[in-house]
Amino acid sequence: MLQIKIIEAIETYPIRLEILRKNIPLPYKFEGDLDSETFHLGVSKNNELIAVSSYMNVKNKNFEGNQYQLRGMATLKNYRGFGAGKLMLQEAFSMLKGFGIDYLWCNARIVAVDFYKKQGFQTYGDEFEIPIVGKHYIMFKKISND
Ligand SMILES: CC(C)(COP(=O)(O)OP(=O)(O)OC[C@H]1O[C@@H](n2cnc3c(N)ncnc32)[C@H](O)[C@@H]1OP(=O)(O)O)[C@@H](O)C(=O)NCCC(=O)NCCS
Repeated sequence: MLQIKIIEAIETYPIRLEILRKNIPLPYKFEGDLDSETFHLGVSKNNELIAVSSYMNVKNKNFEGNQYQLRGMATLKNYRGFGAGKLMLQEAFSMLKGFGIDYLWCNARIVAVDFYKKQGFQTYGDEFEIPIVGKHYIMFKKISND
């Protein structure tokens, strides 16, 4: 059974390194990781952490209102497709709603765009390149009801 919990920034680092930074010489510690408004979610299976994601109070100029940025979404290869990513996003949507947040946005890798669409995100604007990492879309999900 999958268990979701709030974790510390430091607990996200091994999975970030393995999944998001393999052959990518960019920092695995993000600016804002330790901010008081940042939170990190993890999913474990049989007490092993298998998925992580981070949520930061960062604005994107393309959106109005209160915003959070999703960063570092990753599930270990052997555990993909079991609902860990979805579980973290559902939990984040509910927490962010409670905080009065209007939009959750992210820079989505092309390979993850359809995953985010399934969870209700939409793309915004044109595809763009993040050096070394590759092509991305800005994606967003409206959290508030109005
Ligand atoms: C993208 C990622 C986080 C998805 O995590 P996951 O735990 O496998 O996702 P889930 O099992 O919760 O999937 C939820 C749904 O999305 C689907 N899905 C998962 N990854 C998908 C993908 N890349 N493309 C399309 N659909 C996808 C699943 O099949 C599932 O569909 P269902 O609800 O109809 O059964 C994972 O594939 C990953 O770590 N990828 C590599 C790192 C990465 O690209 N991160 C995103 C950076 S922006």
